[in-house]
Amino acid sequence: MKKIAPSILASDITDLVKHLPGIEKETDWLHLDVMDGHYVPNISFGFFVIKSLRSKTKMFLDTHLMIERPDKYFERFAEAGSDLICFHPETVQNPIEAIKQIKDLGCKVGMALNNKISVDAILPFLSELDLALVLSIEAGFGGQSFIPKSLEKIKALRKEIDAEKLETLLEVDGGVNAQTAGTVLKAGADILVMGSAVFGNGTPVENIKYMKKEFELD
Ligand code: DX5
Ligand code: ZN
Repeated sequence: MKKIAPSILASDITDLVKHLPGIEKETDWLHLDVMDGHYVPNISFGFFVIKSLRSKTKMFLDTHLMIERPDKYFERFAEAGSDLICFHPETVQNPIEAIKQIKDLGCKVGMALNNKISVDAILPFLSELDLALVLSIEAGFGGQSFIPKSLEKIKALRKEIDAEKLETLLEVDGGVNAQTAGTVLKAGADILVMGSAVFGNGTPVENIKYMKKEFELD
């Protein structure tokens, strides 16, 4: 499975609902970037937007929490309708406990590696995860350039996932576009998060169609 998860951070949120029916015909994941102004120097959206999206779409809501102490809010994100909850290991006191909490809420669980965090932070938990996310930028803002050094992390995780025959999906987030997607896929990514590349120029649906054709995505 190779697919695009459009990140609504780059969308005009009041316009998004108009595009959703077309988007969900092309891909079934939607990437939701939650930011609190503490873990990252930016604030995006939270439960209310997710709940409202949940009522409008059956897409798989891939929720990326860039917040301090996300474990205080897992329940609220699950209630709002997140299908997957992804957190950064350094934001919780006990990653194993956090993984368990998310699973007990009936959600899929992901762990994200910020740019400066090494793969060692995620390796001990890999077999427990539905998703491993490599941030190929410094978390906080859309529209940044892909950091080439991230390719090493993607390759290292791909190697480990394959060696251990895990079903963990590998997601890459940040600066993924028509120029970088090929290399990212070659390095072993399963899910490509695309914000600006989908919601920037042109129309989201046409942009997704182009990427799917160009990179032979599902
Ligand atoms: C940034 C977010 C990304 C962001 C990607 O912290 O995690 O999901 O929306 O945006 P682009 O695709 O524009 O780099
Ligand atoms: Zn993200």
